[in-house]
Amino acid sequence: MSANDKPGILHVYDGIEEMDNHLPNWWLFLLWSTVLFGFGYWFYYQVSGVGPGSMAVYKAEAAEAARNAASNQPVSDETLLALMLDSQSVEQGKAQFTQQCAACHGQKGEGLIGPNLTDKFWLHGGTPMAIHKTVSEGVVAKGMPAWERTLGAERVRSIAAYVLTLKNTNVPGKAPQGELAE
Ligand code: HEC
Repeated sequence: MSANDKPGILHVYDGIEEMDNHLPNWWLFLLWSTVLFGFGYWFYYQVSGVGPGSMAVYKAEAAEAARNAASNQPVSDETLLALMLDSQSVEQGKAQFTQQCAACHGQKGEGLIGPNLTDKFWLHGGTPMAIHKTVSEGVVAKGMPAWERTLGAERVRSIAAYVLTLKNTNVPGKAPQGELAE
C-alpha cells in the first residue's frame, strides 16, 4: 500500500505508518499558553518597567541591609549621612516631619514658630549629630519638644536624616538665626 492511498498517512516504511494527525487541543492549548505567558512576563518585567527588575530588587535589598547595619550601630555623623542617602529612611522621616514638625517649622522646613531649617545658620549646631541631638532631646525651655521619648530612636534617626536633606536648600522663609555653619 502506498502512502497516498489512505488519508492522513505521510509515509509507510517497513510496515510502520507515519501519520499526519492533528495535535490534541489540550496540547496546543498548553503550547500557546506558555508562549503567551512568556511574552507577558517579558513585557511586564523588561519592557513596561512596571514589574521590578532584578536591579531594583537588588538595590532595595542592599538598602535594607544597610539600614539594618546602621540600626545596630550607635548614631554617629557617618551613620546619619548614610541614612540620608537611603531613600526609604528619608521618605519615612519626611512623613514624620509633615506630621510632627511642619506646624512649627513649615512644610518645607522654611521656619514658622521654630527656626528655618533650610539655611546655613544653626542655633544648636548644623552637624548631623548636633541636629540629631536637638531633635532627640529638644530645647524644651525655648519651645522645641524632645522627640526621642515620644517617637523612639529609629524615627528620630530617620527624621534627622530628612532634616539633613533640607539643610542648605535655602527655602525663603524665616530669617536666619544662630551661627553660620557650612
Ligand atoms: C511646638 C513647636 C515645635 C515643634 C512641633 C517642633 N519644633 Fe523644632 N524648634 C522649635 C523652636 C521654637 C526651636 C528653636 C529653639 C531655640 O530657640 O533654641 C526649634 C529648633 C529646632 C532645631 C534646631 C534649629 C537650629 O537652628 O539649631 C531643629 C533641628 C528642630 N527644631 C527640628 C525639629 C523637628 C525635626 C521637629 C519634629 C520632629 C520639630 N523641630 C518640631 C519649635 C518646634
